Amino acid sequence: MSLTRRSLFQTTLAVPAALAAQAPADEPYWNMVAKQFPLAEKLIYLNAANVCPASHPVMDRHLAFLRDFHGNPSFQNRDKYVEMRESLRAKAAKMLRVSANEIAVTRNTSEGSNLVVKGIDLKEGDEVIVTSHNHPSNLDSWNVRARRDRFTVKTVSTPVLPGSADALTAGIEKAITPRTRVIAITHLTSTTGVLYPAKAIAELARRRGIWMHLDGAQTFGALDVDLSSIDCDSYATSAHKWLMGPLEAGLLFVRDRRIAELWPAVVTAGWAEDLKGARKFEVYGQRDDPRVVALEASLDFVNTIGMRNVEARMRALATRAKTQLAALGGVELKTNHEAELSGGVVKFKLSDIATKTVYGKLWERHRIATASTLSGDSEGIRFSPHIYNLPGQIDAAVAAVRELTKA
Ligand SMILES: Cc1ncc(COP(=O)(O)O)c(C=O)c1O
Repeated sequence: MSLTRRSLFQTTLAVPAALAAQAPADEPYWNMVAKQFPLAEKLIYLNAANVCPASHPVMDRHLAFLRDFHGNPSFQNRDKYVEMRESLRAKAAKMLRVSANEIAVTRNTSEGSNLVVKGIDLKEGDEVIVTSHNHPSNLDSWNVRARRDRFTVKTVSTPVLPGSADALTAGIEKAITPRTRVIAITHLTSTTGVLYPAKAIAELARRRGIWMHLDGAQTFGALDVDLSSIDCDSYATSAHKWLMGPLEAGLLFVRDRRIAELWPAVVTAGWAEDLKGARKFEVYGQRDDPRVVALEASLDFVNTIGMRNVEARMRALATRAKTQLAALGGVELKTNHEAELSGGVVKFKLSDIATKTVYGKLWERHRIATASTLSGDSEGIRFSPHIYNLPGQIDAAVAAVRELTKA
């Protein structure tokens, strides 16, 4: 039997509805949140900055859509996905405080950033400012295009422990010239967890008519991102990171006043000159409708808890890790403590043990899943906790690091 949107919604969101009924401040509440995830019992998963697990309600809804789609792939049954994508768009726009017409449903941050990189008119003599800790999708992508179109990419160094938000803004401002056309930065770096003052930098850009692109892979679903306040021109993100949504689903925001300036990178059946707003950046041929619409379930899940509550809990876990790690001898913390300069990414390095060894031992001895950078200024181990982690897991992970420093 084919499912209507309403019946899917009713059958699969029963569990988060219980979450909405209780206060999010206490540990029993967060225990209940943790139970919504399929994570293996002995696993301490601290790699949200890479990929987050989807919760049971999100997976259930995704599977229900998949079964529905493959049980009846007729145009008639699939018609509903058009409406459902609009519903998702409206919810995503609301969460980011922008208008639905400014949201394109993409496959990930890489694609969203590349749509911007490929879509802006740039010519020889123009300059694009990036930072040294940008992800390759917002760094190498600019360099590759610059080779073809002969514009200049200027890389501003990202300090590992910036002294202040003003210092970060000043670093970007110094690189601006009358030829600057784009500033493309990372909202929160995946390397050492630097939170850039996006609003201040967007203001610098706006005053000069410069396009400001923000890579939001590490902030959407982690921080309560308000794009109406930041007022950047574009923001790319993924659903499978902090939003705890389906894999290979993402969003690209393009500011209304900029949409006409951005060329679509892919044009195929379904594309039309008069497609409204950012919709013209999401026509890639047949889409995976169940996955695209399952993204809506992850927005519902996060909204049930409340984005502010999610951020506060995530920050409490990250702060717990930073405070304990900073107190250990032989550990260099590479992430700021201040909330205005940090988010959910925590980086640290052990002075006497090779990072590769630490990474391996945390996994082999304790089943602690982290990420590592093996060289360069951001060398170290990355913890990135999220709402499915419990304080005891943070304590256990730090205890495992302590054990290594004593070995
Ligand atoms: C800052 C940043 N940007 C972009 C990406 C790419 O994300 P995706 O692989 O989902 O496109 C990542 C992935 O870790 C990231 O950390």
